[in-house]
Order: sequence, then C-alpha cells, then structure tokens
Amino acid sequence: MPAISASAPGKIILFGEHAVVYGQPAIAVPVNQVRARAIISARPDQPSGWINVQAPDINLEDNLENIAQDHPLVLVIKGVLEATGIGQAPALTVRVTSTIPIAAGLGSGAAVSVAIARALSGFLGRPLMNEEVSNLAFEVEKLYHGTPSGIDNTVITYEKPIYFTKTGLTDQGKMDAFQVSQPFTIVIGDTGVPSPTVAAVGDVRRSWQEDEKTFQGLFANIGEIVTRAKDAIEKGEISTLGPLMNENQHLLEKIGVSSGKLEKLIQTAVQAGADGAKLSGGGRGGNMIALATQETAQQIANALIAAGATRTIITEVKQ
Ligand code: MEV
Repeated sequence: MPAISASAPGKIILFGEHAVVYGQPAIAVPVNQVRARAIISARPDQPSGWINVQAPDINLEDNLENIAQDHPLVLVIKGVLEATGIGQAPALTVRVTSTIPIAAGLGSGAAVSVAIARALSGFLGRPLMNEEVSNLAFEVEKLYHGTPSGIDNTVITYEKPIYFTKTGLTDQGKMDAFQVSQPFTIVIGDTGVPSPTVAAVGDVRRSWQEDEKTFQGLFANIGEIVTRAKDAIEKGEISTLGPLMNENQHLLEKIGVSSGKLEKLIQTAVQAGADGAKLSGGGRGGNMIALATQETAQQIANALIAAGATRTIITEVKQ
C-alpha cells in the first residue's frame, strides 16, 4: 500500500477575532507559506490495529495506546477511524510535521487535525468530505480551545478567504460567499511569545461574565468593522482596510488581549509604511498583521525584525 500524504495551511484572522466567539462575523484567510503535513505509511510487518504516531516537532513517537487518550493527535486519529466506519485499521504509521508555529495564532492545531483527517481517511480508502474534515477538526478544537467559534477549522479546511459567523454556542458557524476583488499584501510578524488561544479566550469569557454590557458593546463595534471590511474587500477599496485594522486593534486592546510587544510591532509596522496593523488570532503574544503593498512589504518585514519580531511572512490575500 503506497504512503498517502495531505497538507493544510496556516491561517490569519484579518478582522473580528474574539468577537466571533460571541456571534459577530469575522474574516479569515489561509496562509500557504506555512503548512502542516501528515503522511500515513503501511506497516505490513505489524499486526492489524497497530498504529504508531510520530510528531517530531513535539518530540512524540509512540504507539497510539500509550499516548494520553485525550491528546489531540489521538482524538483526530480515533475520530477518523470512527467517521470512516473502519473498526480495525491495517497496521500503519501516522507522521506529522508542521512549519506553522505552535501557540502563535496561526491555526497550527486545526491544520494538523485537517491534514491527518485527509491523509488517514484517504489511506483507508474512505476519503472524508470537506464538511466532515472540518467537523472533526472542530471537535478537537472544542476540547483544546474551550469555546472556539469554528473559524480556524473552516478556513483551514476550505483554503480560501471566508466571512464567518458562529451560529450557536456549541455549533460551529457558517461560511458566507465572499469575493476578494483585488488582491492585497499582508505582512505577518511573530512576537515569538507563545500564547495558547485557550487562555486568551478563557480570560475574555471571564471579563465578559463580569461586565456583559460593556463587552457586548465592544463585540458589536468589532462586528461593524468586520462588515465594513467585507464591503471594502468586495469592492476592491483596499485603502479603507488600514484604518479599519487600526480601529479593530483599539477595540482588542480594550478587550484586554493585546500586549506591549504586539503594540510595539504594530507601531513599528505603521512607521515603516503599513496602512494599518493589528494583532491576529488569540492575542497576548503570537502574531500581528500589517496591511502593506508589494512595494512596502519587504521594508515593513525588515523593520519588524529590527524591532524584535522572531519571524515574518509576506502573504498575498486573493480569491
Ligand atoms: C482564534 O484564531 C480566533 C479566536 O476568535 C478564537 C475562535 O474564534 O475560536 C480568538
């Protein structure tokens, strides 16, 4: 049986993180420069049902039954076996590698789940459809993000820009048709500070519980920005996006998910020529994004590195 591999991209949230958990819309796009990859190989020398998991990025190599049963990799593999209806799989190895930084707001967890779901279901001869792949990744996200909106698994599964709204407290949301009529350039800057999304999402939930009225207002303001941003992207009015990013960032600061290092990089990007900048994802650390042009992108990336970013990615947002 030949080995089968599949990969999935990273992602950034352009507008609307955190508020999306509370029913507001958000916009996310895939980032293809970084990817998670899963390779499934047959092990005919082992008895059927034998599954070995290799994830060198997190120093993990063991047989499935020896790994904590609530580990995300175990949950995805078992989820695929269940979804494909295969009781006993042939002996196999699941190898996962990823160039997406972990706990950086770039969707590494969801990308690993999507890559495994595709590769393993393909290997078993029952390839899952996109909706099933996304649902499976969402189930794993729920255990690790507490109350995820579903935006990460959706944008990573479909690999295209999405305008997303969560439909219920536990259900994942829906994706609406969304046209990027004119491509634009984003520079991503990594603070190098790991920040698990679950912690930021949990803190926002506690603040919201303490002062629901204020937080509902902030989320609604973010929702308005997202709607205006969608309109601008659809009309190709890219110059409108920079100020909207700045407004979104101010609201994220009020929500309490920014940080000194994020703000330093955001300010640096704007001084180096970006039309606007904001944190992206869970915040606190992780990545920020800046609106650039093909001409200004490299100088913004250089300035971010000089200001302490540990890594930059220049990416083009297009249909
Ligand atoms: C994470 O990429 C975005 C958050 O809004 C969480 C979520 O939507 O699940 C912070």
